[in-house]
Amino acid sequence: MKMKSVLVTGSLGQIGTELTPYLRNIYSSDKVVASAKNITEGIENVTKEGPFELVDVTKPEEIKAALKKYDIGTIYHLASLLSATGESNPQALWAVNMNGLNNILEAAREYKCAVFFPSSIAVFGPGSPQDKTPQDTVTRPTSIYGVSKVAGELLCDYYHQKYGLDIRGLRYPGVISNAALPGGGTTDYAVHIFYDAIRVGSYTCFLREDSSIDMIYMPDVLEGAVQVMEADPEKLIHRNAFNVSAITITPGKLAEELKKYIPGFTISYDIDPVRQAIADSWPNSLDDSAARAEWGWNPKYGLEKMTKDMLNVLSKKLN
Ligand code: SER
Repeated sequence: MKMKSVLVTGSLGQIGTELTPYLRNIYSSDKVVASAKNITEGIENVTKEGPFELVDVTKPEEIKAALKKYDIGTIYHLASLLSATGESNPQALWAVNMNGLNNILEAAREYKCAVFFPSSIAVFGPGSPQDKTPQDTVTRPTSIYGVSKVAGELLCDYYHQKYGLDIRGLRYPGVISNAALPGGGTTDYAVHIFYDAIRVGSYTCFLREDSSIDMIYMPDVLEGAVQVMEADPEKLIHRNAFNVSAITITPGKLAEELKKYIPGFTISYDIDPVRQAIADSWPNSLDDSAARAEWGWNPKYGLEKMTKDMLNVLSKKLN
């Protein structure tokens, strides 16, 4: 049987720029269609090394046209606004994150596609247990981004229960990576700190020194996404919205780790009240034992290995 193709929305974002080549490597370049609302510069590997389509996820007809044109069987739906951006424009966030997801699910129902939906630690709020937050617990977030992710998780469950769609997903913590920069998230400090450490030897952090949030390094993000989509459905009790985590850090702890390699590195703090409030409402750490038990989640990068790799890759890139 002819293999169906894969569509990646938000393919020019922090995760998409790396997930697209990763999927093309697994399934062959011509079978993975990258899409985004606009073309941005500097991502030729995504736009030129395989099919690329302009798809605005707020426009159902553009999604359906792409599904039809390329005979899509699976959608990795990454198009989303992040938490800090959402607080400055909640309506824009709702349009992209909620209406966009709704459009994707409706199109997936019509064209019988499987869907990967990345959720977030943002589904948790001040009422959730803050340490080793369990898989199944209170999800009453206070950010609009978190609200969209909880509603998104539920909508995905609904489409699975009502229409039998195969929809799976992970609750990512902060994502650390070195290809495309994250845009407008609360956890962005953990990426920016590496760029500034290499370029200027110091970093001014917008979160407090002791703000504990879990992180994950991009190679584990990519592996986890494909692993959950290819997992044996018989073994999946949750299917969607799995807690995943790899590294528990604060800005202070990450700065100490960086000093091991850049001895003169200094960090100072200039707190952004909006992002600090979001960070304070999120868990200090996650319990990802359901992902480990149900489909073998086993991240390869802890703090030390991630830091060494980030410094190695970025030193070459920035010099
Ligand atoms: N990295 C995201 C953010 O900070 C969390 O999912 O918004």
